Amino acid sequence: MTEATNLPRHVAIIMDGNGRWATKRKLPRVMGHNAGMKAMREIVRRSSDLGVQYLTVYAFSTENWKRTQEEIGGIFGLLIKYVNQDLEELHEENVRVNILGDWSIMPENVREALGRTIFKTRNNTGLTFNIALNYGSRDEVVRGVRELAEMVKAGELDPADIDEESISKHLYTGKFGVPDPDLIIRPGGEVRLSNYLMWQAAYAELYFCDTLWPDFTPDEYETILRSFGNRERRFGGRNE
Ligand code: IPE
Ligand code: IPE
Ligand code: MG
Repeated sequence: MTEATNLPRHVAIIMDGNGRWATKRKLPRVMGHNAGMKAMREIVRRSSDLGVQYLTVYAFSTENWKRTQEEIGGIFGLLIKYVNQDLEELHEENVRVNILGDWSIMPENVREALGRTIFKTRNNTGLTFNIALNYGSRDEVVRGVRELAEMVKAGELDPADIDEESISKHLYTGKFGVPDPDLIIRPGGEVRLSNYLMWQAAYAELYFCDTLWPDFTPDEYETILRSFGNRERRFGGRNE
């Protein structure tokens, strides 16, 4: 494994542009998702090789249920295929897989495949690979606030003790001990967060590019990560 020098500890990616990639080729959208899944596999490998500690990918948002049943089913099918095919390799590479989002409402076959993956890799200590699935920042904050309210109601928490740390702990990321992202990359040409890690992104560096996700290569990724090392992060203060 190549040792990381000044690379971001936590990289988050919005994997966007699969549909347009397929449309450009006159292919059905699901073929774009298939190509996107292959790109994801390569990015996970490169992250692990580079020594990135946390990689979080946006795979399906709380808003993506607005798509057709056909497309949604296609995305889930591809996800199952990915985890089944790559489970051994992920495990051998010491990768730990987590899901961020409410996946309890996913179809049984999806839950089964994901559950197996999470269980098998739970003690791995290399790259932590988070898949944001049925994930939305607002939904995540609502759930966290509701949990805190329940604790107040039960007399376990004083409202005066609710602070940034306690809110962070009650988000999906906090539950898995995942730190805030240092860098958020959005390929696909759109310049927006689309309800992704909005609380956690407070001081993240943001990188947008036009490459459609299926065309996003590990080399382009590595170049972005290395240039991140040159950015000056001030966190509101001044670096003299
Ligand atoms: C991202 O690609 C994958 C998901 C949202 C699941 P899109 O499907 O959004 O691709 P475009 O943006 O339509 O090209
Ligand atoms: C964001 O992409 C969600 C994922 C990549 C999973 P979308 O394609 O859903 O976002 P919008 O609709 O362009 O904002
Ligand atoms: Mg999109």
